[in-house]
Amino acid sequence: MSEITPVISATGLYTPPETISNDELVASFNAYVELFNQRHAAEIAAGTVEALQPSSAEFIEKASGIKSRHVMSKASTLDPEIMGPRWPERADDELSVMAEIGVKAARAALESIGRDPKDVDAVLCAASNMQRPYPAMAIEIQQALGIEGFAFDMNVACSSATFGIQTAADFIRSGNARSVLVVSPEICTGHNNMKNRDSHFIFGDVATAVLVEAKDMAPAQHWEIVGTRLKTVFSNNIRNNFGFLNCATPETIGTPDKLFVQEGRKVFKEVVPMVATMIVDHAHDLGIDPASLRRLWLHQANSGMNRLIAQRVLGHEANEDESPTVLDTYGNTSSAGSIIAFHLHNADLAAGDTALICSFGAGYSAGTVFIRKAA
Ligand code: COA
Repeated sequence: MSEITPVISATGLYTPPETISNDELVASFNAYVELFNQRHAAEIAAGTVEALQPSSAEFIEKASGIKSRHVMSKASTLDPEIMGPRWPERADDELSVMAEIGVKAARAALESIGRDPKDVDAVLCAASNMQRPYPAMAIEIQQALGIEGFAFDMNVACSSATFGIQTAADFIRSGNARSVLVVSPEICTGHNNMKNRDSHFIFGDVATAVLVEAKDMAPAQHWEIVGTRLKTVFSNNIRNNFGFLNCATPETIGTPDKLFVQEGRKVFKEVVPMVATMIVDHAHDLGIDPASLRRLWLHQANSGMNRLIAQRVLGHEANEDESPTVLDTYGNTSSAGSIIAFHLHNADLAAGDTALICSFGAGYSAGTVFIRKAA
């Protein structure tokens, strides 16, 4: 029996309408710093507590390339007494917030090609954090869309979407499904520590969806999946200790290690060569000259990292056309970042063009998805 070819049939994007500029974010952070320093003035004077330092919009843009980010809950995220997303608790029979935005992105993908949800066989909710352990977010999304078949959650941090695409492609190759939705609702402001000067500016919120299907049912305009590869190497340089064994006690709620923490410099230094080598090796194994890649849709964490990785892959400094960025307006949206870049910047490519979706992040984890435009 010949292998069934998996392709990307459609993508969908949900962008929260509210945005926070660097200036707004820094004003909120600096108000928090002032409050903290006032409240701890005696300890600071006694030398037992270190005074907090203000943040700067100039630093943020220079260090990361981020100018603004979309968020799910602007007012509470900017409130120096809260600094995180807040909304009224929802009843169990209401759609969860994460499922709600996942459904919006998924619907956009399905509607873009007129795909009836009845023809979808599986839903993967692939994201760096889940709103709850069970029932799976993916099953809630499946139910809301009216999809039969099966669904489950998977978390590979910033690489969740590419790991989801390979999983979907493998289901299709093996004949276990013919149409699989990979949904990535990323509410990153919920796991970021907005009180940490080093990383308060990093993240934004978004949801993306990728529809992976057997080629014989896909629309004429699709992307053939030429090859996928996944890699993980354990590292503590990006870590979040929040979990079911430690979330219930007053002592552990909200302590800094129960939110995102990273050694940004080490991540930068270690991940750039790992990912560049992975892309080049995978391209060679597929018989593709990396320098001939028409476009790189890289994970969107830091503009400097993307510049270096693209340069090592293409052999020259990449321009916006070769390696588009959405960091400036979306910030880091974890696993959704490379998918947003792909969704927004693929229409101009020609049939036969070969390009790359690539993720990297906590784990460490990295995923490469080489695709070729069919029509
Ligand atoms: N405002 C002003 N200054 C700040 C600041 C802020 N918000 N945060 C840090 N600084 C200062 C530091 O105190 C330091 O000052 P010093 O040189 O006087 O000690 C200086 O800026 C440099 O800080 P550093 O943290 O080393 O900056 P950086 O250039 O490494 O940039 C990151 C920080 C996080 C943007 C960068 O390391 C990065 O993006 N790394 C990769 C992260 C990544 O991809 N993570 C994956 C997440 S999914």
